[in-house]
Amino acid sequence: RAIAVIMVGGPTKGTRFRPLSLNIPKPLFPLAGQPMVHHPISACKRIPNLVQIYLIGFYEEREFALYVSSISNELKIPVRYLREDKPHGSAGGIYNFRDLIMEDNPSHIFLLNCDVCCSFPLPEMLDAHRRYGGIGTILVIKVSAESANQFGELVADPITNELLHYTEKPETFVSERINCGVYIFTPDIFTAIQDVSTQRKDRANLRRVSSFEALQSDTRSLPADFVRLDQDILSPLAGKKQLYTYETLDFWEQIKTPGMSLRCSGLYLSQFRFTSPHLLASGDSAKNATIIGDVYIHPSAKVHPTAKIGPNVSISANARIGAGARLISCIILDDVEIKENAAVLHAIVGWKSSIGRWSRVQADGKYNAKLGVTILGEDVTVEDEVVVTNSIVLPHKTLNLSVQDEIIL
Ligand code: GDD
Repeated sequence: RAIAVIMVGGPTKGTRFRPLSLNIPKPLFPLAGQPMVHHPISACKRIPNLVQIYLIGFYEEREFALYVSSISNELKIPVRYLREDKPHGSAGGIYNFRDLIMEDNPSHIFLLNCDVCCSFPLPEMLDAHRRYGGIGTILVIKVSAESANQFGELVADPITNELLHYTEKPETFVSERINCGVYIFTPDIFTAIQDVSTQRKDRANLRRVSSFEALQSDTRSLPADFVRLDQDILSPLAGKKQLYTYETLDFWEQIKTPGMSLRCSGLYLSQFRFTSPHLLASGDSAKNATIIGDVYIHPSAKVHPTAKIGPNVSISANARIGAGARLISCIILDDVEIKENAAVLHAIVGWKSSIGRWSRVQADGKYNAKLGVTILGEDVTVEDEVVVTNSIVLPHKTLNLSVQDEIIL
């Protein structure tokens, strides 16, 4: 039996996602027309003997209630949101709910970060994990040496795939192989987390009796119930024949910024060609708009037949796209209106916003650059013939003049 746990974090973690996270918890922000967390959840369908999926986070319960009940019905696998009263760290979070998780007596626990975008090769990882016989298997990918330091860098044995060395976001280069934030563990992981927590308590007691407090590092003074999977578990267990790695050659990205969400939306759309072709729009019938590349259009959206859409466009519920409009590489959220002959390129258009006739909302399309994507928050009005370039516009603003490289507060 297997259980899957998806770590969704909480509101304080979503600040880089502003202004989009002002409306919706980041894990529910749509990528390829589906909430971010939907992609790891639907990947879990391929896990043999999966009995339950838990989302663990510290967002309000009501924010996930609707999604969790609809996805449970759709997948026919129970999905439950478990709310932490405060952040316990990525390992402390699952430890906090260990009794509940162990109720189903799982032999394997799949643990997935919700803010990664990949093909989630879970059954393949499970086969490898069984062969290795350790307590955990980590999904890894090779990235460029320049970008590796944003992640956990690791060294694995090229023959046995054993994890030999692990350093979280190191200051000096360790390896191009990084932790993808996708794991399989046996229930022994709970003992490992328990040990860290006990050591912390012991140290704290020791500090109370000795006067070496000033010598203790920050890590040691973390609360006993706050345990990070990477620093506190993976690093100390490396080289002990307990952890192994499984390398993916497929796509992988981390979704920390709105710009990355646009890129990942495109990656998921292109994956739909293989996994869910019915979700991709086709321009086949004469009454449809012209569709280029991978495009998602919600069934309730109204798109004028003379509009031209794609590649990498997703259009959410009740959006209206007018005659002659041109959309390239963008996410159009619910209830947006794009009027006649407007163009949207490399942009995210927030809920209920309106873009006027002959207006342009655009960016240069460099996803990792600070303003590589133009973002309109909720309920922004761009009047007719206005050009918005490389800008971020906070909710409820009206633009009647063109702007470039600005943050409109
Ligand atoms: N429920 C809960 N509670 N979730 C949490 C908590 C917590 O206290 N803290 C973090 N998370 C969730 C986040 O929402 C995210 O999905 C995941 O756990 C990891 O978040 P962080 O601990 O902030 O680490 P990171 O995202 O900067 O880096 C981790 O993931 C990378 C892959 O994306 C590390 O494990 C890196 O090594 C790894 O490369």
